[in-house]
Amino acid sequence: MEHRRSALRTAMVWDALHEALRARHLDVGANRPLQVIDLGGGTGGLAVRVAELGHHVLVVDPSPDALASLERRAAEVSVSAGVRGVLGDAATLLDEVQPASADVVICHGVLEVVDEPALALTSAATALVEGGCLSVLVAQRSAAVFSRAIAGHLADARALLQQRETSDSRADSAPRRFSLAELCELLASAHFTVTEVRGVRVFTDHIASTMVDSEPGAVEELHALEAAVATDPDFLAIATQLHLLATRL
Ligand SMILES: C[S@@+](CC[C@H](N)C(=O)[O-])C[C@H]1O[C@@H](n2cnc3c(N)ncnc32)[C@H](O)[C@@H]1O
Repeated sequence: MEHRRSALRTAMVWDALHEALRARHLDVGANRPLQVIDLGGGTGGLAVRVAELGHHVLVVDPSPDALASLERRAAEVSVSAGVRGVLGDAATLLDEVQPASADVVICHGVLEVVDEPALALTSAATALVEGGCLSVLVAQRSAAVFSRAIAGHLADARALLQQRETSDSRADSAPRRFSLAELCELLASAHFTVTEVRGVRVFTDHIASTMVDSEPGAVEELHALEAAVATDPDFLAIATQLHLLATRL
């Protein structure tokens, strides 16, 4: 059951990315594979799926263990020729790739942990061709505040809320969280224009799993509900994650 829930959790992000890849592929003429960078791509869950579509994916990640898993995963589905992993990070990305060489950059779950999110986005922008697409997924602060508050952890909720006012929200080594406005500002500064905003896990993480898991059909119902509100601004603030698509100007 948990496996099915987690597959459904990632389905919406994959569907949006898949559509963005399809659109970008048409833009470049569809007669060659897309050059895709998965920055902080980890064990390659997404990279391998992108390679299965026939595109070329470079995963840049500082974890040797993650890259070893990526290699195994790619071999298992016979896409090793389409996926390459290199040890590196957001700060060294441009040592690995030429400027204006990528059609798509994926940056999921990474701005939370890098030293300088602004630098990571500038590097991504430099690696992309003009008109190239960035897919960025980040943890949203307001949802974390909300979930702590409704669980009765009120002091934690207030402390998290106040991170907004500190210049380094990773001072306690906890992952950084973003507001939509902060993320849009970072993207604009790095010369991206936002084309799509989606709330991911608007309800899923606020519901006790027993409530969903014990009810036949509830997982699918929850997925349908998530899909229905993903782009509704009224529900955005309680989404655990924000998924944005942006174009390199
Ligand atoms: C939460 S995981 C996300 C993995 C993958 N992108 C996903 O969505 O499943 C964060 C990843 O960022 C990588 N990472 C950590 N610091 C990084 C940095 N400075 N630059 C790039 N990636 C980094 C980690 O090794 C890890 O693979």
